[in-house]
Amino acid sequence: MIQTPEEPLGPRRVIGTPSPAPRAVDAQAEPEQPAFSADPPNVQHAKNAERLVAALFVLAFLAGCGFIAAYIGLEVGSSTIPKGGNDVVAVLRSNMALGTSLAVALLALGTGSMIWVRHLTPDIEIAEERHELESAPEDRRAFKRDFAEGAAISQVTRRPLVRRTMLLATAPLALAPLVLLRDLGPLPQTDLRHTVWKKGLRAVTLGGLRPLRPADISTPGSMITVIPEGYQDNDNALAKAGVILIKFGPGELHIPTNYNGGTLVSTMNWTIDNIVAYSKICTHVGCPVALYEQTTHHILCPCHQSTFDAANGANVIFGPAARALPQLPLMLTSEGYIAAASDFTQPVGPSFWERG
Ligand code: FES
Repeated sequence: MIQTPEEPLGPRRVIGTPSPAPRAVDAQAEPEQPAFSADPPNVQHAKNAERLVAALFVLAFLAGCGFIAAYIGLEVGSSTIPKGGNDVVAVLRSNMALGTSLAVALLALGTGSMIWVRHLTPDIEIAEERHELESAPEDRRAFKRDFAEGAAISQVTRRPLVRRTMLLATAPLALAPLVLLRDLGPLPQTDLRHTVWKKGLRAVTLGGLRPLRPADISTPGSMITVIPEGYQDNDNALAKAGVILIKFGPGELHIPTNYNGGTLVSTMNWTIDNIVAYSKICTHVGCPVALYEQTTHHILCPCHQSTFDAANGANVIFGPAARALPQLPLMLTSEGYIAAASDFTQPVGPSFWERG
């Protein structure tokens, strides 16, 4: 009895790269034709292009060698170079040589490759068809079968008591995000439209809580940050009520008389002794404007470089802020201290606060 080798039950594992399947040798079969011809339509043109490409590649080679030679030959910071100006000249020379040789090498290589592709390779458009995105019917059947099996094994379909109590258990968790919405706090209502400034409320220095008389800010170009007296521990109030006082020289201040929707928002009448008060909160997204250029009268916001013209109603002259810094009306108390004549007549802070 002849013994046959046992046939493997499944696919056979192959270690390494499988050898190509043996092809049936058919002596009569036509040799396989390429999909397109590699021969150029104009042989002379192709020959010229070939020479040009070769010349560019040789140029790229020479420039590449020049780059290496420049790197090795043109030393920078060597002990033979005297300190001082010559060092700079050596760096310039080296950079020039390295940059030029590398640029020529890359340019020649790129140009040669482009000419190669455009003039030597066949001009053929090839479209690769997309394969079907839909799974094969047998795969979909297998998925349905596996899903049904999994559901049966998990007992979800067989034990309605467990299924229903599980749904019951997860219901409150599904509602939890709605409950957490409450933590966003109450709506601001109209809070963002007002600050604690009111008529007669004195301005005190941020650091020492010292009330100020006009004589305390006598130097033109001075800028000082003040807060409403008595609110130094009220962070909510201070978040909106920070104010900068700026002193101008005679004739430097030109606050325009402006109205917004019928409300007066800026005027020279709200200044005292060439001292003007503006909100310290940037009208872009609310950073404190902290920098003041005395010579140009520019107030700068450090966050996104919005720039306001302090001499001209704090109008925006640069940057993303969309409106001027609100002006605070000033008055003098009976003792001669600087105080607010009222609250701001427009919302301070980012423009979106106006909608609060
Ligand atoms: S917050 Fe002032 S420029 Fe953006």
